[in-house]
Amino acid sequence: MSLSRRRLFQRLSPVEASSPAEWIAARGREAGLTEFGEQGMAAGARPIRIASNENPLGPGQHVLDAIVGKFPEAHRYPFNAKQTEGALITAIAQKNAAKNENVLLAPGSGELLVHAVRAFTSASKPLVTAWPSYETPRDIAKKMGIPVREAALDGKLRIDIAKMVEASKGAGLVFFCNPNNPTATVHGKSAAVDLVKAIRAASPETVILIDEAYHDYVTDPAYGSMIDVALATPNVFVTRTFSKAYGMAGLRAGYAIGHAPTVKSIAAYKMPYGLGTLTLGGAIVGFANDAHIASERKRNTEVRNFTVKAFADMGVTATDSQTNFLFLDIKRPAAGFRDACRAQGVLVGRDFPPYEKTHVRVSLGTMDEMKKAVEVFKKVLGSTTTTSSKDKQQ
Ligand SMILES: Cc1ncc(COP(=O)(O)O)c(C=O)c1O
Repeated sequence: MSLSRRRLFQRLSPVEASSPAEWIAARGREAGLTEFGEQGMAAGARPIRIASNENPLGPGQHVLDAIVGKFPEAHRYPFNAKQTEGALITAIAQKNAAKNENVLLAPGSGELLVHAVRAFTSASKPLVTAWPSYETPRDIAKKMGIPVREAALDGKLRIDIAKMVEASKGAGLVFFCNPNNPTATVHGKSAAVDLVKAIRAASPETVILIDEAYHDYVTDPAYGSMIDVALATPNVFVTRTFSKAYGMAGLRAGYAIGHAPTVKSIAAYKMPYGLGTLTLGGAIVGFANDAHIASERKRNTEVRNFTVKAFADMGVTATDSQTNFLFLDIKRPAAGFRDACRAQGVLVGRDFPPYEKTHVRVSLGTMDEMKKAVEVFKKVLGSTTTTSSKDKQQ
């Protein structure tokens, strides 16, 4: 029996909506997913979820339509999706002036970080990571009993390049997260190029992983992707994800791109058919639509500017965010702030030691969500100030 798209949505959706995007919007974005049972929240409450750096709008109608179009194949193993997988690899390669052998797909870029630790580190070849930074490489290395060298951040909570280079000598893998999660800061292209050059000189065997999960949200003109450098330099590769600007976090897709022999070493750990048919169908359509990503960046920048200013008006400073989240100096423990926000229906980020006593990470939702969240933040922080001293002077 053939299943029309509309009927399929009606089956999937708890409300009568004509499209998945409308359904998500009608249900208050992620609130549609589950009734939660989040600790400290009223039963059945629909929280504003700004804890996990997701795109609050999802992937866009064009991607949702493509995914729905793949449902008739959902009961088959993704042998047939092999062609789409090849086409997605080719599309990624072509957009970056690379060859297919330079690209490796995975169900999420996090999985590639794990593979890289497995492939390039050992008991005698440590992992180097900034700290705090995205935890996956460090966590997996620790589980595997691999030594980890942590390089503290600089005074502006940016990755300290000199410390990373110093720590890289004899290391198996350097994890350089640019922009960095959780601190939201970025290094410009020339600083990133210098880092690669210095590590290559100090420790030529060391592999350098540049994580660009938040690439699409950067607005700093000094920033540039390191994909071109990775393609031309042995032992260097970049990871990207469909989970952030592409709005596909729940579908799981990411890729590595870089020097072919390095990418091949990671590919040894790849699961066959790791990406599902629906994911591939959505990702290829999403990847082709640069205009959609540009408009998502614009939307995020507007929300970011609004939220940074709202916090500044409360006397709370953010690092220079180049992402879809803020790292904020609230001068009190994140745990108490988080619990108080949760009690009022706003879910913010977890603890990020060693800054958990002073800083909190807040992801950016829609403008509407952030306007509501700001009212909660004002109450929780006990601030009644609505205009900054700068505004008053004008
Ligand atoms: C910096 C960074 N890298 C990688 C990931 C993993 O992303 P995914 O596995 O969803 O592609 C995340 C997720 O939040 C991240 O923040």
